[in-house]
Amino acid sequence: MASERVNGTSRGSADSSPALPAGAHVLADRLPDGLIVTDGHAVVTEVNARACSIVGMPAEDLLGKDIREVLPLQDVDGRSWWECSDPWHGINIRSGHRERLLLLPGGDEALVSAKYVRPGRGKPVTAVVVALRDAHARRRLEANNSVLVATVAHELRSPLTSVKGFSSTLRRRWDQLEDQQKLWMIEAIEADADRVARLITELLDVSRIDSGRLQVRSQPVDLPAKIRAHVESLLTSGDYEQDRFQIEVEPDLPEVWADPDRVDQILANLLENALRHGEGAVRLGVSAGDGGEAIEVTVSDDGPGIEEEHHSVIFTRFWHSRPQGGTGLGLYIVRGLVEAHGGQISVGRAPSGGAEFRFTLPAGAPEQFA
Ligand SMILES: Nc1ncnc2c1ncn2[C@@H]1O[C@H](COP(=O)(O)OP(=O)(O)OP(=O)(O)O)[C@@H](O)[C@H]1O
Ligand SMILES: [Mg+2]
Repeated sequence: MASERVNGTSRGSADSSPALPAGAHVLADRLPDGLIVTDGHAVVTEVNARACSIVGMPAEDLLGKDIREVLPLQDVDGRSWWECSDPWHGINIRSGHRERLLLLPGGDEALVSAKYVRPGRGKPVTAVVVALRDAHARRRLEANNSVLVATVAHELRSPLTSVKGFSSTLRRRWDQLEDQQKLWMIEAIEADADRVARLITELLDVSRIDSGRLQVRSQPVDLPAKIRAHVESLLTSGDYEQDRFQIEVEPDLPEVWADPDRVDQILANLLENALRHGEGAVRLGVSAGDGGEAIEVTVSDDGPGIEEEHHSVIFTRFWHSRPQGGTGLGLYIVRGLVEAHGGQISVGRAPSGGAEFRFTLPAGAPEQFA
């Protein structure tokens, strides 16, 4: 049977009347899902571009053919889906099929649902609209989620094991322990409780970033002042000497609107990484970037740096190159926060060979304030 293309969607040109009204074809071809329509005799009358790419066949091989022959779908137990569902001859009040995971002829998986079109209740089916979705994305999501659950469970278990161990030792041997030993164990319990609390806070941020629920409350922010305040508070802690930090601020910086708490989080994470994973002096630079359209902040150190092959994965969840790393969520969150502000972050090498993180925040007020 001949076929014609209507704005990209292909449909049979024979006697069968198309189920999609004129104009719907343009929409059908823009759908992210595959769409195949058959007439009341299982003959394919329409197919959109996405369906062709999911089933791996050109429209010509489908149009005008019996869908049961050209697209023999099977359920996961190997049964023919068309035989099981039989839209054309089954009980005449059924209106379709909910989404199911089915096997395509080549062995690939697809999520398939169907709608049976009847001119009235109890009347024979005049068209079957089959929707196809690529199952890879869902499989990937499921795999990602199970890795997330396994990693979180693992990360929570080690501090909890130590909390349990120390508290039961304290309870059982309270009278034999010296005050100093008790104090040391209580401090360890406190540190582990902090670790769990931090992990939970990080996971909540990850979930907000992943679901697009991260809120940015913008206001004018003085980035050089923020950087100085962070360095000041690290110096006050007494753990670092003054010469560990160098701050370079260019004059005539553009005004930046950002969420001050989120900017603190970004700076704290990058500084902590430079101190924990890097070595030597930590340099913080602020300059105008992107021809004055953005402000650019660099944080670099003189440590071992990050291998080039890892540059593409360093911002992913749970990535860390060395055992002394933390949970590996810090940079994932930093990237999410920077991007939520409309900025960008990248990693490179400092002249000393250490790591150099560079992020930008767009200059000026966000649209609603402009
Ligand atoms: N300045 C740096 N120098 C060398 N390696 C770094 C630097 N910053 C980050 N890394 C590497 O990148 C990894 C991921 O960093 P990220 O901040 O995401 O996680 P983390 O610091 O290990 O844990 P946390 O979730 O507590 O931040 C680190 O474990 C480390 O291997
Ligand atoms: Mg970190």
